[in-house]
Amino acid sequence: MNVPVVTIDGPGGAGKGTLARLIAKELGFNLLDSGAIYRILGLAALRGAVDLDDPGPLSTMATSLSLSFPFTEKHTDIVLNGESVAGQLRNQDVADAASRIAIHPLVRDALMFLQRQQACVPGLVGDGRDLGTIVFPDAKLKIFLDANVGIRADRRYHELIESGQTVARSAILRDLEIRDVRDRTRSVAPLVAAEDAFVIDSSDKSPSDVLSVVRELCQAHGLTN
Ligand code: DC
Repeated sequence: MNVPVVTIDGPGGAGKGTLARLIAKELGFNLLDSGAIYRILGLAALRGAVDLDDPGPLSTMATSLSLSFPFTEKHTDIVLNGESVAGQLRNQDVADAASRIAIHPLVRDALMFLQRQQACVPGLVGDGRDLGTIVFPDAKLKIFLDANVGIRADRRYHELIESGQTVARSAILRDLEIRDVRDRTRSVAPLVAAEDAFVIDSSDKSPSDVLSVVRELCQAHGLTN
């Protein structure tokens, strides 16, 4: 069954996750954090000491992941093989592993199924890199959210500090720059705006400015009254 899908793609730290959460809540749609799916496989590979450059074992691992996203009182949890792992996904090692495994076509194919499975009634809002171009090419509304890398580094820095992690801003900036190059230049499903995506540069916009623009787009696309 075809349900309405809204895709929000863009580089790390552009504010896609927060925007996707808010829009999903307003529309009453399901939420897909596709980066979390890549991060989960990255975490599982690090734990199992699986070579991040070897697509065979990684894609086998991807097809055998037992995943669920139970909704708790405050947030959506992420359960991997019976263990809650939501708190272990947002660190630099896992982000780097996710970006490295994401270059393998075999791995991307294996994870595509998991992502498409989340498109259930009444609809889906998803954020990622290739949701509008590859995973949901028929999405009803496609957004590409961008921002200058220095501003993205500042936002990530504050996010990580607020969550209690000790990090240097310079390390975050370097990591984002490395991941940007890897995500934008990989041969399969590179980070690029879909031809029919609305590109929003959030560098000089507050989260509420961005939200207002996307609200208007949702209305113009018949997603709200
Ligand atoms: O959005 P994020 O920072 O959580 O994503 C982590 C990595 O996962 C990112 O650097 C590349 C990969 N990824 C991807 O290749 N395709 C997606 N749709 C989402 C994430």
